[in-house]
Amino acid sequence: MDHKTTNEQKIISGFSKLSKVGKLKWLAENFFKDPQSTIEELRSYWHSDDDQQKILDGFSENTISNFPMPFGVAPNFLIDGKPYAVPMVIEESSVVAAASMAAKYWMSRGGFKTTILGTIKIGQVHFKWFGGKELLIKIFPQIKADLIQEAKSITSNMDKRGGGILDIELLDLTEKEDGLYQLRCSFETCDSMGANFINSVLEQFGKSLQTFIFNHPSTSGQSNQLMVIMCILSNFTPDCLVRAEVSCPISELGTMGFDLDAEALAYKFWTAIRIAEIDPYRATTHNKGIFNGIDAVVLATGNDFRAIEACGHAYAAKDGQYKSLSHCSIEDDVFRFWIDIPLAVGTVGGLTNLHPIAKKSLELLGNPTAEELMKVIAVTGLAQNFAAIRSLITTGIQSGHMKMHLVNILHQLKARDNEIENAVEHFSDKVVSFSAVRDFLEA
Ligand code: MEV
Repeated sequence: MDHKTTNEQKIISGFSKLSKVGKLKWLAENFFKDPQSTIEELRSYWHSDDDQQKILDGFSENTISNFPMPFGVAPNFLIDGKPYAVPMVIEESSVVAAASMAAKYWMSRGGFKTTILGTIKIGQVHFKWFGGKELLIKIFPQIKADLIQEAKSITSNMDKRGGGILDIELLDLTEKEDGLYQLRCSFETCDSMGANFINSVLEQFGKSLQTFIFNHPSTSGQSNQLMVIMCILSNFTPDCLVRAEVSCPISELGTMGFDLDAEALAYKFWTAIRIAEIDPYRATTHNKGIFNGIDAVVLATGNDFRAIEACGHAYAAKDGQYKSLSHCSIEDDVFRFWIDIPLAVGTVGGLTNLHPIAKKSLELLGNPTAEELMKVIAVTGLAQNFAAIRSLITTGIQSGHMKMHLVNILHQLKARDNEIENAVEHFSDKVVSFSAVRDFLEA
């Protein structure tokens, strides 16, 4: 078969209507050098159980296969006196090893302590109103009562679970944009992340607002002065916040296995955090390291890592400059290291109970409440950050990282089992690089 395809052949209408095999076949024939082996390879990742595969396909659209990621575990986390083995899904080598190291290190120093600082989620109805500010402010208490009443059919279950609508505020944004107002709504969504609940309530608010303005005697002639622009949750949830911390007397820090004394280590560590508080370039890398841990647990538990990342970075910039999410203090010879991080996650609903491995992750964590999961995730982020800074201020990260990455290089070079064993032995005291590993295998 000649597989030179024209640009026209790479365009299709009705792709979504093709069967899975049809999609695979069309893609393989038009985009890949070896269609048959491509089809076989991608098919080999299909789940052997059709029902399980249907569940996975249901998460997205136009699926042709599954995309495997490693599912690892970092054991020995002591959080508020309770031991955890933390599930982590991440494709970067040395992240899980680093988290495990930090967990063990702090386990012998009292473990991690956490505090939930808030669980409030936010949604917004953005609208334009040209029927007079005073009038809107005057009738707002009635609008608010009406909106809450009209949303009862959506909120009744959540109300029973102890959650629901907490408040609706009217924000006047007309100084920034003519006629622009906002209903800023706060919610408690208990153990669910709450995105669907919040968005359904907000869309109902949008409709009820229109009906209210149309029907109310003081505004009925002015319904054309209202335009609801959009109703959507905010992923910025600064009041859905958790603190995770570790502390110990400086002398108990030990040497961390290096030839610096505890005081010098504490000082270097503190300065490393200070740099990330001052310099956005460093802060971005620093926080990326924190999210290595956070995202891995968020993914493993079937939560929305894009929402968590977006919120975390917005929170890091809340004072007008992008800064470190973690902080360090040295007072009265006590070393303290902590993170305050907004984490809107759920342990019921969404993917958490659908994805077969996410369910296992939650079971591994003892089927936690959303608050408990917030604690575990924040702790993992802090542990990851601790491990990164510890390496950076001592050996540098490359030696540890490249040792872990060595096996990836060996696989890429198609090394056999005995060659892998020999290479790991050989490079135990040498610098790892792609060319050094290739030379070793050739030799
Ligand atoms: C690498 O994935 C993460 C680090 O760069 C984080 C940091 O520099 O703090 C090691």
